[in-house]
Amino acid sequence: MRITWNQLRLFEAVARNGSFTRAAEELHVVQPTVSAQIKQLTDSVGLPVFEQIGKKIYLTDAGKELQKTIKELFESWERFEMTISDLKGAKAGRLRVAIVTTAKYFIPRLLGPFCQHYPGINVSLEIVNRDQTVKRLGENLDDLYIMGVPPEHLAIERVPFLQNPLVVIAPKRHELAGTKRVSLKRLAKERFIMREKGSGTRIAAEEFFSKRKTVLSVKMELSNNEAIKWAVAGGMGLSILSQHALMLEPMHDKIAVLDVEGFPIIRSWYIVYPTGKQLSVVAATFFAYLKEEAEMIQDELFAPQHPQPPYKGRR
Ligand code: PGA
Repeated sequence: MRITWNQLRLFEAVARNGSFTRAAEELHVVQPTVSAQIKQLTDSVGLPVFEQIGKKIYLTDAGKELQKTIKELFESWERFEMTISDLKGAKAGRLRVAIVTTAKYFIPRLLGPFCQHYPGINVSLEIVNRDQTVKRLGENLDDLYIMGVPPEHLAIERVPFLQNPLVVIAPKRHELAGTKRVSLKRLAKERFIMREKGSGTRIAAEEFFSKRKTVLSVKMELSNNEAIKWAVAGGMGLSILSQHALMLEPMHDKIAVLDVEGFPIIRSWYIVYPTGKQLSVVAATFFAYLKEEAEMIQDELFAPQHPQPPYKGRR
């Protein structure tokens, strides 16, 4: 088969976009070029790779096989490029990081200076919940993973690098706001809005309460920290969130952090990767950077003399 790299790139773009026009736009070529190249590719394969039904384009079985093969081919080519750049000692290439939802409050902030310092590094950041992060880890899709609850069933390296305290939040004017050492028994009388099942926050909170034989009444589940904060502010119930979720937008006039027995639940953020994975120079550089910078953020956010400085002072 005489297939060119360019035809594969065009095919991949058409398959992903479901459109010749969008693929042409994305790759800055004219649409007839795409059509001509796909025609030649089809001739080389010997079977149609797309079929058009109405205005929509679908992959044929041969097309699906080709798409799978190209994905593997591109990934392995990217690994080759990374290896070459590693051999040259260059800090350049793609960094793929998958992080759990709550890590979005500090990882992008840390990525800014990192990218400025290493302009040759391009970053792909996946922000998904804990379950999906674990799935990506199992499929070895990224260089590094950031999560609060590393999985037990996979062979992984886990390096704690930053505190991840969980706090109980309530509407600002809630009767427990300002009360010292609220008991878990009293807390259990409240209604709760919790993160969705599969979230690290939820897993950690459930573990904490089940160890203390306390059952919370969960009235609502939301998969979004921002929505939870607004639901709490609106009086729908109390919640348990990472202190990080209150950093950028503390909502100190709408939300109070309660002083509850056993809280904050002190946990860690972990940098995780599969055991045996050879980290690229780019990934190793980010790993070292994260550990170093985390110490700085840690001091800023969780100074030991003020366990919850960003909120207490402003209440
Ligand atoms: P989550 O994970 O955003 O999926 O809740 C956060 C954590 O593990 O603390």
